[in-house]
Amino acid sequence: MENKHCSVKLRRIERKDANILMELNNNDVIAKSVVGNPRKVNIEEQLLWMDSLAKERNTVRMMIEYGSNPVGTIIISSIDLDNETGNMNIKILPEFHGKGIGTKALALACQYAFVEMKLSCLTAHILSDNLASVMLFKKIGFIEEGVLRSRVVKEGRRRDLLSLSCLKSDSKWRKYNV
Ligand SMILES: CC(C)(COP(=O)(O)OP(=O)(O)OC[C@H]1O[C@@H](n2cnc3c(N)ncnc32)[C@H](O)[C@@H]1OP(=O)(O)O)[C@@H](O)C(=O)NCCC(=O)NCCS
Repeated sequence: MENKHCSVKLRRIERKDANILMELNNNDVIAKSVVGNPRKVNIEEQLLWMDSLAKERNTVRMMIEYGSNPVGTIIISSIDLDNETGNMNIKILPEFHGKGIGTKALALACQYAFVEMKLSCLTAHILSDNLASVMLFKKIGFIEEGVLRSRVVKEGRRRDLLSLSCLKSDSKWRKYNV
């Protein structure tokens, strides 16, 4: 799946992506921004984790390619085909931030989720102070639904999450895919 405005592509994760996945997991800037508390891994642990993905259900994991370089991942998790819902997560290596890659990748992932997978509603749960991510999701048409108060422990401290969602009929995401 490719965005025509600049060379941003999404493709399935492959075993050759182990190093970049490890870099994304171990990066301190990304670790501070994501909801979980990633534990640093070495390449052997990364490869073992990749082997375990074969058994994974209800999740689609994609690499974001910029030019021909893998620069990040986008994940649709908690996929519920009965209710036609899924949850979006995105991360991109810091040296590629601010180039519009997130906008194009998220728009492509929305297209994939709404058109190919026939989902109707996508959610995102983001640390309330992660301005870059909140702004990115809103740019694509996600609407803020409310605050999940004190919902996670991040770096030892309780934190709020913002809950956002995008419906297939919220057509803003389409504008970045034409
Ligand atoms: C969130 C993230 C994916 C954004 O990717 P990106 O490629 O830098 O995003 P874009 O360049 O497409 O910017 C999209 C919009 O986000 C907002 N934005 C991006 N960086 C920002 C920043 N540092 N401060 C405020 N807003 C910012 C802007 O509204 C921007 O739109 P604009 O350029 O029209 O003003 C990236 O910062 C990232 O990987 N962060 C670490 C991991 C993370 O936080 N993931 C989200 C967890 S749900």
